[in-house]
Amino acid sequence: MNLLIVGAPGAGKGTQAAEIAQRYKIPHISTGNMFRTVIKSGTKLGKKAKQIIDAGGLIPDDITSGIVRERLLQKDCAKGFLLDGYPRTITQAKDLAKLLDELGKKIDHVVSIEIPDDNVIARITGRRVCLNCGATYHLTHKKPKQKGICDVCGNRIVQRKDDVEETVRERQKIYKEVTLPIIGYYEAQDLVFHVDGDGTIEDVFERIKLSLESD
Ligand code: AP5
Repeated sequence: MNLLIVGAPGAGKGTQAAEIAQRYKIPHISTGNMFRTVIKSGTKLGKKAKQIIDAGGLIPDDITSGIVRERLLQKDCAKGFLLDGYPRTITQAKDLAKLLDELGKKIDHVVSIEIPDDNVIARITGRRVCLNCGATYHLTHKKPKQKGICDVCGNRIVQRKDDVEETVRERQKIYKEVTLPIIGYYEAQDLVFHVDGDGTIEDVFERIKLSLESD
């Protein structure tokens, strides 16, 4: 199964993507996590990415589509994949269509998680992440077993630099202007499941399963 998960910052894409990937045994590919790994490397690209991400902007399309291309060519994507946070512009959506065409693949479904802006501020400001393995936690909704330590890899969990309210508002603005049009692009291909992102993590996952499994 080849899936995309889209939604505004803090909608719960990463959280739900981890559940979906586990249930359907497909790799979870998050461009946000990939860029955070690049930043840790301290390379020239990492420094450039850090500047853009900390300000709430978007990495240029050619760089983003380039790293996704490399990732989708890897063996573990042969039987399916779940892209989280990509595509985020119409140009990226067209780049992906071209790549999948070359590979003889297609997108099966696009899961769009929908939630009002104001409901996500508390989610995002309470989020903590592991910069080593990408696992996501929340101070009240999804606590790690041991305070400050990642359940998956044992590294320290931290607050993302772009998770302050001012930057989140900028990310929300960019989402509406630049990313939302891709929903219409995929609706025209009859691929979109609209999922209400309000409620507990389990509630939202049930809705996603229902959409994917009733198809
Ligand atoms: P990215 O990491 O993709 O950030 P984002 O899209 O802004 O999304 P978030 O990670 O903020 O939110 P999410 O929807 O995954 O929510 P989560 O599940 O963590 O990208 C970061 C940056 O990288 C971008 O701003 C851009 O600069 C760059 N970038 C990435 N992809 C790019 C691309 N394609 N092109 C160009 N640039 C790109 O949940 C949030 C919190 O809420 C967590 O703490 C979670 O535990 C909690 N939570 C989740 N669901 C619930 C629930 N139902 N109830 C209560 N709490 C919940």
